[in-house]
Amino acid sequence: MSDLPIVPVLTIDGPSGAGKGTAAAAIAQRLGFHLLDSGAVYRVAALHALRNQADLCDEASVLNTFSSMQATFEPNGLAGVAVKLAGVDVSTEIRTEQAGNAASQVAAMQRVRAELLDEQRAFRQMPGLVADGRDMGTVVFPDATLKVFLTASAQERAERRAKQLNDKGITANIADLIREIGERDERDASRVHSPLVPAEDALSIESSALSADEVVQQIADAWKTRVERTS
Ligand code: DC
Repeated sequence: MSDLPIVPVLTIDGPSGAGKGTAAAAIAQRLGFHLLDSGAVYRVAALHALRNQADLCDEASVLNTFSSMQATFEPNGLAGVAVKLAGVDVSTEIRTEQAGNAASQVAAMQRVRAELLDEQRAFRQMPGLVADGRDMGTVVFPDATLKVFLTASAQERAERRAKQLNDKGITANIADLIREIGERDERDASRVHSPLVPAEDALSIESSALSADEVVQQIADAWKTRVERTS
């Protein structure tokens, strides 16, 4: 029998735009836990592949670039994580549409997902981890203490996205955004490897009518109840 302590994990999965990143950073700060933004792991891997002229339609070509990848993830409070590639900050660059689309392409590749598994699991360190993504509770940390599946309606997510774009001076059409979100949801939920599905034992939170603070409070309450029950 191992005497190693079990590091507690709280997973937050769900579609993009549901508020996972904001909730995960806030909860990690509250609990004093480490934070894994697994989307950032896929984004930085995709950026590295792009910079090394990989063919993003070819799994082997993407995988070939991984041996030279040097990425670091530093906690950055409520802003989530600061990401560096080869020592240079790429936190903004990985958030571009181009990096997002490239991430979505490489994330559909089974060997890429397998290759990035250990790197994600290495974030599991004392005193605990909050991990956000699509398959945190189903594949990466199936033994998590608490699994949350965070959703919001396509309308609400489109409005949040439009506001983000407006803040950057970009005008967006809500109907177009709703259509794009619907298409991405369909692609994420129907992909062969690690599709976006709630873990069987996940707590589902529908955040459309909730403020960010209310979402954090619900997760914090559920965590407290779960930890009290299991200790
Ligand atoms: O959450 P995000 O938008 O930063 O994710 C970027 C891409 O990576 C997105 O296409 C979904 C994918 N992803 C994934 O397949 N599995 C995860 N655990 C996290 C993200």
